[in-house]
Amino acid sequence: MRGKFITLEGIDGAGKSTHHAWLVEFLKRQGKEVVATREPGGTELGEKLRALLLSEPMHLETEALLMFAARREHLDKLILPALAHGKWVVSDRFTDASYAYQGGGRGLDPEKIKALERWVQGDFQPDMTFVFDLPTEIACERLAKTGAAPDRFERETREFFERVRESYLRRAGIEPDRIKVIDSRLSIPEIKKQLENIIATN
Ligand code: ADP
Ligand code: TYD
Repeated sequence: MRGKFITLEGIDGAGKSTHHAWLVEFLKRQGKEVVATREPGGTELGEKLRALLLSEPMHLETEALLMFAARREHLDKLILPALAHGKWVVSDRFTDASYAYQGGGRGLDPEKIKALERWVQGDFQPDMTFVFDLPTEIACERLAKTGAAPDRFERETREFFERVRESYLRRAGIEPDRIKVIDSRLSIPEIKKQLENIIATN
């Protein structure tokens, strides 16, 4: 039996990494074989592309192309083989991030993203996507508290993240069956409960 592909999305600082780690352990406790991964990244080459993407200034189309190059590798080497072996794959970000960041944030024509999406993944889509939604000012405060040096994306303006957030919410409105919006203002235990309930009923 094919496993499920779950992706976590949201603006930087919205709580993806926190709940990604928890979700992976939760699914393992349920007896599932789970592969934890992330984008950009997830493969040896993908992680090298990630390092470039998070640090080097580049044209916005170069950025989109590298995101999808890393994704092609990720699908081929990790995601599709794992699913075929009945494993569940939980990825911190996937293609919704390209629509939200390169499309919404940077203003790249969504038709170009759609063309790359078709090329790289055909009709393949996550079975379930959680969008962690948080006002940008709270996300910014939470990120600042971690003390970690901001990467090339995290140094973007409030307006950029407003557009990214709106783009995620718009996509969730169009695909409510796949994309579930989680209110990240809630406490971590409350969010875990919501994730548990959604997984149990889907
Ligand atoms: P992301 O991976 O989306 O950038 P993180 O999971 O790293 O976000 O969370 C950013 C910071 O916010 C971390 O310090 C984390 O502990 C904290 N955090 C995450 N979720 C919540 C929450 N629901 N309430 C309060 N703080 C949170
Ligand atoms: P992120 O996943 O937030 O990692 P961390 O929590 O370690 O900072 O960082 C990846 C960045 O890449 C994030 O700012 C969003 C960006 N990104 C895109 O712009 N487009 C994409 O398609 C993907 C997958 C990520």
